[in-house]
Amino acid sequence: MNILGISGSPNSGGNNDKLIEEILRIAGERGFKTDTVFISSSKIDPCNACGVCAKEDRCPIEDDMLPVYDKLEEADAVVVSSPVYFGTMTAQLKALCDRSVLHRRQGFRLKNKVGAAMAIGGSRNGGQEKTIQSIHEWMHIHGMIVVGDGGHFGGILKKPAAKDEEGMKTAIDTINKVCDVLEMIA
Ligand SMILES: Cc1cc2nc3c(=O)[nH]c(=O)nc-3n(C[C@H](O)[C@H](O)[C@H](O)COP(=O)(O)O)c2cc1C
Repeated sequence: MNILGISGSPNSGGNNDKLIEEILRIAGERGFKTDTVFISSSKIDPCNACGVCAKEDRCPIEDDMLPVYDKLEEADAVVVSSPVYFGTMTAQLKALCDRSVLHRRQGFRLKNKVGAAMAIGGSRNGGQEKTIQSIHEWMHIHGMIVVGDGGHFGGILKKPAAKDEEGMKTAIDTINKVCDVLEMIA
C-alpha cells in the first residue's frame, strides 16, 4: 500500500519537509511504499472557480498540480504537514487543497483513503490544533477516513521540530496509526 506525504511549507529542506521525510522513512520500514509532494518545489496556483472540472475530468490550469492529482489518486493514505501561518495552513497548501476539488467533482476519488495531519509552529501554542483541524476539514470533505495520533489530533510540533521530543512522539504515533489502519483495511 502507498502513503503520500505532503509538506505544505514553502521553505525547502525546512522543518516540515524533514518531518515528512522522517515519518515516511518509518512507514517504509514497516513495508509501505511512499511518495512525496513538497510544496517548496512546486508551483501550484489557486483555484479560480472556472468550473471546468465540474463538467470535464480536467483542470485547465497547467502547473505542478497536474502530477499531484495522480499522486493523490494512487495513494492509499495521505499525510499532510503544514507550518502554522497566522493560525492555519499555508496559502500554498490551501491552493493544493482547493484545486483537489476536481477529485471530489469527478466521483469522490479520494473517498475512503486514510488521512492524517501534522502542524509545526514557531510557538508552543501557536495554532497547531487549528491548522490540523483545517487539514482534517479538507480530508472530511473528500470523504476520507481521518485518524489522529491515537490519543489526540495528530502531529503537533514546535520548531525546531527535530528537537521537540514530545512533538516528534505525536508525529511518530500518527504515522504508526496510519500504518495500523492501512494494515487493518488490507
Ligand atoms: C507568515 C508566517 C506566519 C506565521 N504564523 C505563525 C503562527 O500563527 N503561529 C506559530 O506558531 N508560528 C507561526 N509562524 C512560524 C512558522 O509556523 C514556522 O516558522 C514553521 O512551522 C517552520 O516550518 P518550516 O521550517 O517548514 O518552514 C509563522 C511564520 C510565517 C512565515
